[in-house]
Amino acid sequence: MAFLPQACLFDLDGVIVDTAKYHFIGWQRLAEELGVPFTHEDNEQLKGVSRVGSLEYILAKGGLELDNDTKVRLMDRKNAWYLELVGSMNPDELFPGVVEFMDELIGAGIQVGLGSSSRNAPLILELCGIADRFGTIVDGNSITFSKPDPEVFLKGAEALGVKPEHCVVFEDAVSGVQAARNGGFRIIGVGDAASLTEAEFVIPGFEDFTLKTMVERLS
Ligand code: BG6
Ligand code: MG
Repeated sequence: MAFLPQACLFDLDGVIVDTAKYHFIGWQRLAEELGVPFTHEDNEQLKGVSRVGSLEYILAKGGLELDNDTKVRLMDRKNAWYLELVGSMNPDELFPGVVEFMDELIGAGIQVGLGSSSRNAPLILELCGIADRFGTIVDGNSITFSKPDPEVFLKGAEALGVKPEHCVVFEDAVSGVQAARNGGFRIIGVGDAASLTEAEFVIPGFEDFTLKTMVERLS
């Protein structure tokens, strides 16, 4: 029988917009100040990882131990740089086809929600002009446990009144795919098929991706 989802939950960074490049600039600048090398490979590891988790990764790489107040100060510094970079974001930075796909879902009566680790998610959705499409926005401010914990997606599904098994998660991060799996969701990877092996299937992006294609591939 065909599987028709009742809702779709989208991750933000790397699924709807390419903010990884801005996170990279911020974390690299901070890492440099701390004398820790920070490469694009390191940035890949931080996809889906919370702000504090990302700082801990850099500190561990440099063998540094800092007190809590210093960590908060460093995260605030990085976030201030990040906000400068994302402050000029606009709808042109939305990945091709993603809004058209969401509109197709909404038109078919399938609910759309956001499940992101980012505390900046509401701002970015506003800047890109798509906040009003989401029936629920669960972001880094509303969760206690980071991906791969399923909390962010479970809260999203609950807010939409949908069971995880009737809900599809779109994720670009390994930790995010694991979170969806841990929550019992259907999972479509976005981006690199070689690393997202736990997704049911992986799409390179939303160009040419339709509700019909999704239903066929999930059924
Ligand atoms: C995730 C990103 O969506 O949000 C991570 O993939 C980022 O790279 C995390 O660290 C937290 O983001 P923010 O905006 O709250 O610092
Ligand atoms: Mg992501």
